[in-house]
Amino acid sequence: MEFRPVSPTDLPRLAEAFIATFSAEPWSEAWTMDSALACLADLLALPRAAHLTVLDEGVCLGAIFGFDHVKDHGLTHEIRELFIHPQARGQGIGQALMVRYLTERHLSDVNNVYLLTARDTPSEEFYGRLGFRRARQQVVLVRP
Ligand SMILES: CC(C)(COP(=O)(O)OP(=O)(O)OC[C@H]1O[C@@H](n2cnc3c(N)ncnc32)[C@H](O)[C@@H]1OP(=O)(O)O)[C@@H](O)C(=O)NCCC(=O)NCCS
Repeated sequence: MEFRPVSPTDLPRLAEAFIATFSAEPWSEAWTMDSALACLADLLALPRAAHLTVLDEGVCLGAIFGFDHVKDHGLTHEIRELFIHPQARGQGIGQALMVRYLTERHLSDVNNVYLLTARDTPSEEFYGRLGFRRARQQVVLVRP
């Protein structure tokens, strides 16, 4: 297993894993190859972006993308996407990718890390095992 930053040439393979993930339940999202490629390319181009992909024999199995925000008290990190190809799940790869990412994130420079995920789902449980908890003060607001 190899971990390295995502390169633009990884995007088509990662877009396949992304579509396979988020077009399935519970998301049932309507991604196409074009929209998935655009989404991942935008994540790669974010200011202060961070990303890591996991490969097995040269094949990208999944990735994590995030970026730092500058705040008054220093840097805060937002994780924007994490996905492992459905055929590679349940083998410890997602956890290994996340642990690697968090330790490579130079956490001494980052005060906290946050992310959005669907409540009461297996992914919330997954993040809980990695030390994430529900925010005590913030709430997500949406419109309409
Ligand atoms: C969430 C995800 C990244 C986990 O990757 P993975 O490689 O399948 O997970 P791992 O095999 O590393 O599992 C790590 C731990 O989480 C637990 N876990 C993983 N998937 C789980 C699930 N669906 N339900 C409950 N627990 C789960 C495992 O049991 C394991 O716990 P353990 O260390 O006590 O044995 C992957 O399932 C995925 O891509 N899911 C769809 C996308 C998603 O949910 N992304 C995050 C939210 S946007």
